[in-house]
Amino acid sequence: MKKILVTGGLGFIGSHICVSLIEKNYSICIIDSLINSSEDNLLSIKKICNLSNNFLEDRITFFKGDIKNKRFLKHIFKKAIDDKKPIEAVIHLAGLKSVNESTEEPLTYWETNVVGTLNLLEAMQIYNCKNIVFSSSATIYRPTINELLTENSDLGPISPYGTTKLTIEKMLEDLAKSKKNDLNIINLRYFNPVGAHISGLLGENPKGKPNNLFPILLKVASGEYKKLSIFGADWPTHDGTCIRDYIHVMDLAEAHISALNFILNSSSVFINLNIGTGIGKSVLEVVETFMKVNKCEFEYSFVSRRQGDSPYLVADNRLALSTLNWKPQKSLNDMCIDAWKWKITSKNKFK
Ligand SMILES: NC(=O)c1ccc[n+]([C@@H]2O[C@H](COP(=O)([O-])OP(=O)(O)OC[C@H]3O[C@@H](n4cnc5c(N)ncnc54)[C@H](O)[C@@H]3O)[C@@H](O)[C@H]2O)c1
Repeated sequence: MKKILVTGGLGFIGSHICVSLIEKNYSICIIDSLINSSEDNLLSIKKICNLSNNFLEDRITFFKGDIKNKRFLKHIFKKAIDDKKPIEAVIHLAGLKSVNESTEEPLTYWETNVVGTLNLLEAMQIYNCKNIVFSSSATIYRPTINELLTENSDLGPISPYGTTKLTIEKMLEDLAKSKKNDLNIINLRYFNPVGAHISGLLGENPKGKPNNLFPILLKVASGEYKKLSIFGADWPTHDGTCIRDYIHVMDLAEAHISALNFILNSSSVFINLNIGTGIGKSVLEVVETFMKVNKCEFEYSFVSRRQGDSPYLVADNRLALSTLNWKPQKSLNDMCIDAWKWKITSKNKFK
């Protein structure tokens, strides 16, 4: 049974990937500082996996710690080797992800995302771990209007967050080019992951004030927030609101499993892949779909544009489909229904 290290594995995307990994018979080691998540997610992962199958608890180990701490990272890799279960691959999600916050705290973003990744790569090198799937982002592209983004589209992040992701990709590319290291690297450039696990036990639950559309929408729909503020009604799109490529988090998790299978059966691979559905939806279309499928209504209004946003981010995902033998299965309706189920379940749980 192969052991996979998942950094940031208790976060929104990481926790869903952990479920898929366990279901696919991997053993996982999770690192998370819990700066934007909680150990409740560990319990939920175990619960989901035990519900569908009788997996043993030792299939998951969790280490609370920070990727900024080199000694901590080295300890994890060394311990795995000492235990005779070396880490075969890393899925690297740990990092800070708010576009808006990164414009206010750029150095914090550089330190966590870039220095943290440098530490991780150093530990991987020392302990001879050669496979990594990195959580990159569509924010590394230069914004376009009505043009699908391919992996060769112009790069040009417009936020410090996007710049840190692009910097990490460059770092990984340099490593890939140095023949000495012989690494397998896949950068998955996520578009807009949303939705939740179908059980309602896992979903997006950021600490502090949420910045992304879905967590805010859930708070408005559940009455925690009075109304939804839509940032900009004057973008150059058909209804004036931003267009994004929303992808269900479980489809995204499956893309990681495929990427992992790919690199574990390859040598000296370096690939960038867009992970989206290829279908753009405006903020207004999402709001209307959410209300319709979940039979709820709430107020929204338009406010001025937000720094760091771009009007149109939609993937040309053909390279991912052909390389990974993977295809997103879930619709925007599924994303809205599953996210709402998670909200209702977690609201009852935390009452
Ligand atoms: N959610 C999105 O829309 C999106 C889009 C593109 C890329 N990504 C990237 O995917 C990854 C996961 O995103 P997410 O939405 O699950 O975010 P998240 O905040 O829910 O998960 C990130 C996890 O990393 C942990 N973490 C943060 N800094 C850490 C550190 N220094 N050391 C150890 N753990 C740390 C957090 O506690 C959290 O559990 C991030 O790298 C993000 O940049 C996310």
